[in-house]
Amino acid sequence: MNKENTSSKLITSLFDTGSLTRETTNILNSFDEIIQGVRPLNSRQLQQLPENIRNLSHQLTDDRASRRLGYMNDNIQLSSYVRYYTWWNLVRLTRLFANIPATVFPTSDCTCLDLGSGPLTVVTALWLARPELRKLKLTWYCLDVSANSMALGEDIFLSIAACTGEEPWHIVRVKGAFGTTIKQKANFLTCANMFNELDQASDMPPEFTTKKYYEQIQRYCENDAGVLLVEPGVPKAARTLSLLRTRFIKDGRTIAAPCPHAEECPMSGFKAYTGSKNKWCNFAFSTEDAPAKLQKLSVAAKLPKERATLSFIAVEHGHAELVSASPDTTSIRIASDKLRLPNYMCGYYACTRFGLALVRLPDENNKKLPKPPFRPQSGDLIQVKIKTPDSLPKDEKSGAVIIEI
Ligand SMILES: C[S@@+](CC[C@H](N)C(=O)[O-])C[C@H]1O[C@@H](n2cnc3c(N)ncnc32)[C@H](O)[C@@H]1O
Repeated sequence: MNKENTSSKLITSLFDTGSLTRETTNILNSFDEIIQGVRPLNSRQLQQLPENIRNLSHQLTDDRASRRLGYMNDNIQLSSYVRYYTWWNLVRLTRLFANIPATVFPTSDCTCLDLGSGPLTVVTALWLARPELRKLKLTWYCLDVSANSMALGEDIFLSIAACTGEEPWHIVRVKGAFGTTIKQKANFLTCANMFNELDQASDMPPEFTTKKYYEQIQRYCENDAGVLLVEPGVPKAARTLSLLRTRFIKDGRTIAAPCPHAEECPMSGFKAYTGSKNKWCNFAFSTEDAPAKLQKLSVAAKLPKERATLSFIAVEHGHAELVSASPDTTSIRIASDKLRLPNYMCGYYACTRFGLALVRLPDENNKKLPKPPFRPQSGDLIQVKIKTPDSLPKDEKSGAVIIEI
């Protein structure tokens, strides 16, 4: 063990609930009551809700062939989606949005575009996660093939804005498919969980589809727009995001998160979606402090969730110069759950400018070695001082450089 070569410090966690206000946490905890106020279900419909959620889950995963493009227009499916998926997505997205750098978000009144907006989940999540943005006059173009889901989403957003007592952002709903012309170019573009659906409907590999996605995103945006793309943490979606990342970097853009460097992506998911062992970039958090009523509903729908995952890229607005760190200091991003290693050690895979790394530390039962300065979690950004990077040892199994903390 070559601990003398390194020292480390936790910079930020990706899913720290401490970054959410008490008001936001309260609204998330009672999201079911907000929907009930906007689009009530009677007691018989509420009784059937778990079963309908379960049926929808089949259509979104193992029975995709039976799903219609406009599935969100169907009242039962929309109601099930909003009361389960939107709620979980708000839990995921609020944590993420509250913990990524502010340089991604608008700083003045501007035009924003949310693609595959569904029930406006991203807009509502951003309102809840970043209260400082509420004072900006943002115009949100929301694009989706389903008009019904956006109409319900706008009612939910307005109801939540009313709870917070601030003037809501201006919403312009556009019914149409990805590629539909939008009147104004966006200074900020968001998209959550849509590319995954487009990929499911296509037999083409991400290497092909990404080119089209990137060109269309460019057409929608001003040159220096902030861009925030979030997808489920599955291999094909992560591969799509990694390929988009490469294109943004080639065009001189800065990825504010999750990437701690602009070198080649060491978790690019190349072929991971075909079952190969390549690692793909995704992050997870434990759902133990998710809203209790949402957890109960998930159990009733036989879809209990112990961890939530996602993949994402956040592109800074502007063409900022990369600030180079001092030669012996580097930032790394933890990108796996804990791995058990021999001799009371544990580890985590991490993304670094040296490529894939295996961060190694004594586990909780290790009485021989000093306790590590902190216990990492998936998504943590850590600053490490490495005196001689060239002398970092390598893990035989994965080829990753080993960093001791
Ligand atoms: C899984 S939902 C995500 C909704 C919302 N962004 C969220 O994260 O909760 C995917 C959305 O993409 C929409 N969608 C699917 N294909 C689309 C297309 N070609 N163009 C625009 N929207 C599309 C669906 O109607 C649906 O509302």
